[in-house]
Amino acid sequence: MVKKIWYTYDEIHQVLKQLAEKILAGGVQYDAMIAIGGGGFIPARILRCFLNIPIYAVTTAYYANDFGYETNDEIKKIQWLDPMPETLKGKNILVVDEVDDSRVTLEFVLNELKKEDFGEIGVAVLHAKIKEKTGKLPEGIHYFSGITVEDWWINYPWDADDIVAHNILAAESKKAD
Ligand code: G4P
Ligand code: MG
Repeated sequence: MVKKIWYTYDEIHQVLKQLAEKILAGGVQYDAMIAIGGGGFIPARILRCFLNIPIYAVTTAYYANDFGYETNDEIKKIQWLDPMPETLKGKNILVVDEVDDSRVTLEFVLNELKKEDFGEIGVAVLHAKIKEKTGKLPEGIHYFSGITVEDWWINYPWDADDIVAHNILAAESKKAD
């Protein structure tokens, strides 16, 4: 059975503050974030408290197809910056997502964004899972992660049906360690 972990909004807020400090110390001044929805939306909004730069958004959906021996994972654009706003031309952009898991989504999004006329491109994720990655980050991308975590299934507070029960599970799952 896949091990699961629950994180609270408070824990996530604290990790995002540390992530912002790493980004600010990284030597590149980013002009805007591009959040990858849905998971990147809330992290980007919290990061904005610390980075004070505007948030743009793209949304993708990931379809994991499993045909016997073959896996054929597919990413689709649900919404894109098309055309790319003039205000972003030549600017340094920071792509934001909640989790670096297989990197399939990150590879897709970063390759698409690399075709545009940007300055530096960075990517910032709240959680980086320690595992073998299927996707590859394109060359020249600055990478930041809040914390590295085991390859467990993460339950995010924004997916919770009952946030009080979620927070109890978050506390219990950490006590068990
Ligand atoms: P990556 O490039 O960022 O590594 O993402 P990957 O394609 O591997 O992830 C596929 C989908 O699975 C993504 O959702 C990602 O958010 C989600 N995912 C991966 N690991 C976890 C986890 O531990 N917990 C949760 N809750 N989700 C996980 P998506 O298609 O982008 O949908 P959305 O939820 O962002 O809208
Ligand atoms: Mg996502």
